[in-house]
Amino acid sequence: MAASEAILQVCGGFVPHLYSSGSYFSKSRSDSRSSIRYRKRKGASHLKVLKCSISISSQFSHVLRGNVATTQLGYAKCNCQQTDSTSGISSEGGNGAWFVDGAKEFSTINGNTPNGLEFKEFNSEKDVTSNSHLPDNGSITDTLQTVFADSIEDEAWELLRESIVYYCGNPVGTIAAKDPSSSNVLNYDQVFIRDFIPSGIAFLLKGEYDLVRNFILHTLQLQSWEKTIDCHSPGQGLMPASFKVRTVPLDGDDSATEEILDPDFGEAAIGRVAPVDSGLWWIILLRAYGKCSGDLSVQERIDVQTGIKMILRLCLADGFDMFPTLLVTDGSCMIDRRMGIHGHPLEIQALFYSALLCAREMLAPEDGSADLVRALNNRLVALSFHIREYYWIDMRKLNEIYRYKTEEYSYDAVNKFNIYPDQISPWLVEWMPNKGGYLIGNLQPAHMDFRFFSLGNLWSIVSSLVTVDQSHAILDLIEAKWSDLVADMPFKICYPALEGQEWQIITGCDPKNTPWSYHNGGSWPTLLWQLTVACIKMNRPEIAARAIEVVEKRISKDKWPEYYDTKRARFIGKQARLFQTWSIAGYLVSKLLLADPNAAKILIIEEDSELVNAFSCAISSNHRRKRGPKSSQNSYIV
Ligand code: GLC
Repeated sequence: MAASEAILQVCGGFVPHLYSSGSYFSKSRSDSRSSIRYRKRKGASHLKVLKCSISISSQFSHVLRGNVATTQLGYAKCNCQQTDSTSGISSEGGNGAWFVDGAKEFSTINGNTPNGLEFKEFNSEKDVTSNSHLPDNGSITDTLQTVFADSIEDEAWELLRESIVYYCGNPVGTIAAKDPSSSNVLNYDQVFIRDFIPSGIAFLLKGEYDLVRNFILHTLQLQSWEKTIDCHSPGQGLMPASFKVRTVPLDGDDSATEEILDPDFGEAAIGRVAPVDSGLWWIILLRAYGKCSGDLSVQERIDVQTGIKMILRLCLADGFDMFPTLLVTDGSCMIDRRMGIHGHPLEIQALFYSALLCAREMLAPEDGSADLVRALNNRLVALSFHIREYYWIDMRKLNEIYRYKTEEYSYDAVNKFNIYPDQISPWLVEWMPNKGGYLIGNLQPAHMDFRFFSLGNLWSIVSSLVTVDQSHAILDLIEAKWSDLVADMPFKICYPALEGQEWQIITGCDPKNTPWSYHNGGSWPTLLWQLTVACIKMNRPEIAARAIEVVEKRISKDKWPEYYDTKRARFIGKQARLFQTWSIAGYLVSKLLLADPNAAKILIIEEDSELVNAFSCAISSNHRRKRGPKSSQNSYIV
C-alpha cells in the first residue's frame, strides 16, 4: 500500500479511535456537527473540490483543536479521490471462486437463466406457474406471465436508478422514497443505511459495484463522530440511521455553495431512536461487496478495519446485562418506533450474530485485536446457544412451558427466566402448527414475547444462528401459516398485531401503529428479499417463488408502497409512502437470486463446525454447571 494512501486511510479512520470520547469534542459541540463537506462555486457546471492540499498533520491538529469543518473538508477530499481512483472495478475483476460475471449472468431485462450450481435446479417461472393456481393452459399463459414479470422488472430497475443520490458527483446511496404524491417528506428524502441494503445487493448482483463501494466508504466517514442528543454523547462506533446530501451556502463566501453529508444518529429521528442495526448491516454489506466484486481491498483498508472494530467494541462492551444477547432500547432496528421490543429483540440478535461472523471473516489478523477476536468468538458461542435454547418454540416446547414450575431458586432451574405459564397467549395455543416452529420475539426475566417477528426469524436462517432443523421448521411454519404471513402481500412484519389495551399501553396509543398497520402487523414487501435468501439457503426456493407471484399481482399497479394494512394485506398502508425504494429493490433482489441461487452466497453464512463443537461443549458444561469456581475453559454465559 502506498504511504500516501495509508495516511489517507488513517485520516479517515484512526482519529476517532485514538481520541475516542475526548473531552474536547464535548466542549465544541455546537459547531462540531458530524457532516462531511464538499464545496462548489455557484454557477459552476462541474463540482469541484477545494483545498485539496491540506497537509495531514494540520488536519490532525484541527481535529484536536475542534475545527471540524476544516478537518471534514479534508475527509471529503480523501473520499472523493479514493472513490474516483477505483471506479473501474468491474464484474470481470471478480474473485472467480463462485461468482460468475454478474453483468452477463444477470440479464434481468431479457429474462434470466437459472444458474444454480450447488442448489437444487429450479426454474422460477416454471415453478411459479405450477405453484400458482392458474389454469394450466400451456405456453400462452407462461409467455404472458413472463412478459408481465419482465415489464415489472424493467420498471423496477428504472425506479431504482432514479432513486440514486449523488455526492461530489458520485453515486453514494438511494433515497428512501420518491413519492410525488406526498407533500410531507419527513426524512424519506434521506439515504437510510438499512434501506440501502437491498439496493446495494441489487446493484452488486448486476455487477455494478461503485455505488456500493462509495456507500460503504462515505458512511464509514460519518461513523460516530460527534453525535449528541441534548447534552449527552452516545458511544463511539455507532453508524447513522440515515444521511442527507445538503447544498448549503459557504461560510463567508456568498458566491459559493458546498455540499455536506449530514448524518442522523437518531438525534433528529421521531422518538430519538438509536439505529443499532445500521452498523451491523454495514458489516454485512461490506462482506457481500467483497464476495461479489472480488475486490477485497476495501475491507483490508486500515480505516475500514478500524470501522469494523469500532462497531464490534461498541457491541461487545461490558455492561450490566446477564445475557449474551444485545440489550437495546425500543425502536432500534427496522421497527423504529415503540412496539414493545426493547430488551433483547430477535431482529437485533440475528443481525448481531451475522455481523460478528462477517467481521470475523474480514478482520485482518494482528496482535492488537487478539482480545477482540477472543471476545467475539466467546460471544458467538454463547449467543447461538442462548437463542437456540431459549428463543425456540414449537409444539413440544410450548407444552413444556405450559407445565413449567415457577419460582425455582437454583443453578439448575428448568424455568430459568421464571416464565409464568399463564403468559402463553390464547392466540398461540391455536396458531402453533403441529409441524414447524419459530424463534420468539424477545426474552426477558418473566417475559417471553411470543409474537412472530419475520426479519429476525428469516435472518437467523440466513446466518445459521439456528440449526438446520430449526431453519426448516421456520419455513414449515411459514408454509403452514401462509394466509396469515403472506396472504395478499408478503410479508407480515410481525404476527399477530397488538390490539385494545395492549396496543394502548405498548405503543403509547400510536395512531400509525394501529392493529394490522405499519409495524403493528402490517405487511412489508421489502421483506421478500430476506425470505428469498432464507429459502434459497434451505434449498426451498419454491416458497419464495410463490411469494413473488403474489407480489407481482399488485405491487407495480399499487405504485410500490412501503407497507400494506389489514390482516390479509388488502389495503395499501394508511400512511405508506409510494415508490418506496426498498420495496422496489427487495423485489429485484428476489428475482435476481431466484434466477441465480448460487449468488445468494454473498449473504449466506453456513454453519461453522468449530462453532458447533464449541456449542456442544457449552451445552455439556451448562448441564454440569454447579455452584463453585468457574472452569476457565468453558466460561460461556448461557
Ligand atoms: C420507517 C421504517 C424504517 C425505515 C424508514 C425509511 O421509519 O420504520 O425501518 O428505515 O421508514 O424507509
